[in-house]
This record gives sequence, C-alpha cells and structure tokens, in this order.
Amino acid sequence: MTSTIFGVSKNAIVAIGLLYILIICENAQGAEYVVGGKIGWDLDPSVFHWPEGKSFKAGDILIFNYSNPLFKVEQVNKTQFDNCYSDFNPIKTYDSGHDKVAIGKGTTYFICATPDYCGYGMRIVINAA
Ligand SMILES: *[C@@H]1O[C@H](CO)[C@@H](O)[C@H](O)[C@H]1NC(C)=O
Ligand SMILES: *[C@@H]1O[C@H](CO)[C@@H](O)[C@H](O)[C@H]1NC(C)=O
Repeated sequence: MTSTIFGVSKNAIVAIGLLYILIICENAQGAEYVVGGKIGWDLDPSVFHWPEGKSFKAGDILIFNYSNPLFKVEQVNKTQFDNCYSDFNPIKTYDSGHDKVAIGKGTTYFICATPDYCGYGMRIVINAA
C-alpha cells in the first residue's frame, strides 16, 4: 500500500522535489557564452554587436577567447568605455587568452586594452537581469 499526502503519492512528491533541486542547480551554474561567437574576441566590427538580442542573467559566464596578446580584456566603467580609456585604473584586467568572467546584475562594460582596437569597435556592453 503506498501512502499518500492529500491524495498525492509520496514518490511523486520526492520526484518533484528532486526535479526542483536539479532546476535550482542548473540556474546557479549560469549559461556560458563565447564572446563574439565563432569569431571570438577579435578585431572585427561584428564583436561590438554580438551581445544584441541575447538575454544575459547575473551569474552567466563570458569566455573571451583570443591568442593575440594585444587583445587583453579590461572591465571598465561607462566613462572609460565611452572614451576607450584603457590602463586607466580599470575595474579588472584579463589576459589569459581564455578568460572566464562571471557577470553581475546590471550593466557591465568590457574593452580591448589596446585603445585603437577599442575605438575600432572591440568593446561590448552587457546588460544582465
Ligand atoms: C578558441 O579559439 C580557438 C582558435 O583560436 C578555437 O580553436 C577554439 O575552438 C575556441 N574556443 C572556443 C570555446 O570557442
Ligand atoms: C571611472 O573610473 C575612473 C578611474 O578610476 C574614475 O576616474 C571615474 O570617475 C570613473 N567614472 C565613473 C562614471 O564611475
């Protein structure tokens, strides 16, 4: 005889509970995005437009993939972003060539640390919910 709670079997309740835990873990993990898609973090005008149409969430991971040492990534504020001010007290600098960056809620700005490349469009704005 299977026991029931309000007519629902205990097994069903346990199954729903496990599913719920799985969903929570999934969300905590965050989605991973390779910045620029196939092109990667590169000197290409499409990189600037790469975030468009994507729904980022706090905790998502951005992967900046590049081999050129001049392409190092700086997380900056809006003023620095708008003016391509690199090496000017950035919030963070990444230079591994395969940088994994977890984004927070709100707006985050990234620029290429080489000012001319930033000016060319190698910079992105991420809005995360
Ligand atoms: C990173 O870029 C290299 C080539 O530079 C490519 O082979 C590799 O697949 C890329 N990795 C990702 C996660 O896109
Ligand atoms: C951005 O950072 C620079 C350097 O730390 C600072 O001088 C400037 O006031 C900051 N601007 C904003 C809008 O936070």
